[in-house]
Amino acid sequence: MTRRAAPAVVAAGPAEPRAFWSALSRLHWRAFAGRERRWSAGELDALAASPGVRVWSVRRGAAAPLGFVAMRVVGDEAEILTIAVARGARRRGLGRGLLLEAEYSARGAGASKIILEVAESAAPARALYARLGYGEVGRRRAYYAGPPVDDALVLARSFFPTKPV
Ligand SMILES: CC(C)(COP(=O)(O)OP(=O)(O)OC[C@H]1O[C@@H](n2cnc3c(N)ncnc32)[C@H](O)[C@@H]1OP(=O)(O)O)[C@@H](O)C(=O)NCCC(=O)NCCS
Repeated sequence: MTRRAAPAVVAAGPAEPRAFWSALSRLHWRAFAGRERRWSAGELDALAASPGVRVWSVRRGAAAPLGFVAMRVVGDEAEILTIAVARGARRRGLGRGLLLEAEYSARGAGASKIILEVAESAAPARALYARLGYGEVGRRRAYYAGPPVDDALVLARSFFPTKPV
């Protein structure tokens, strides 16, 4: 009997091939169903290489990634830049796993707070963040030009950094 490998959250390295970034670009576009502009493979690659940015993806063997998260840490604050899980792989804990990995890394990097923006209408994402203890700290009216026009909610969660001082 052949067993499928279990999905694993893996940090993106500096030498990921272009095909990897192209797969994330496709995944991101499809996950947001056109509600976000398309991030090209080159942009994602450049973003991952910029200061303070870390990217993790969910991989299962050599198959296309099932999800990914990008986070930037500046000083004691981390920001989730984006998170997306492929439609066919949702509600299996992958989004939660990606977010927890990012939080763990943020704490290790000395962050005491993590922030993010989410469209008010993005119910699944809001449910995920609420489940993990994120609270609303701000609102940016008509931040998403649409259609449909939507407010962005700014959410945050505080924690103790684990990096020794
Ligand atoms: C948001 C997103 C990443 C969640 O990924 P996911 O892998 O399906 O999430 P998980 O399976 O880890 O869900 C964890 C918890 O979040 C909540 N949740 C997630 N999706 C939900 C949904 N559709 N309805 C209600 N609750 C939901 C639940 O509490 C869930 O726990 P449970 O399944 O034990 O009830 C995914 O829906 C997605 O890619 N959405 C489009 C992109 C997007 O909006 N990104 C966020 C931008 S800020």
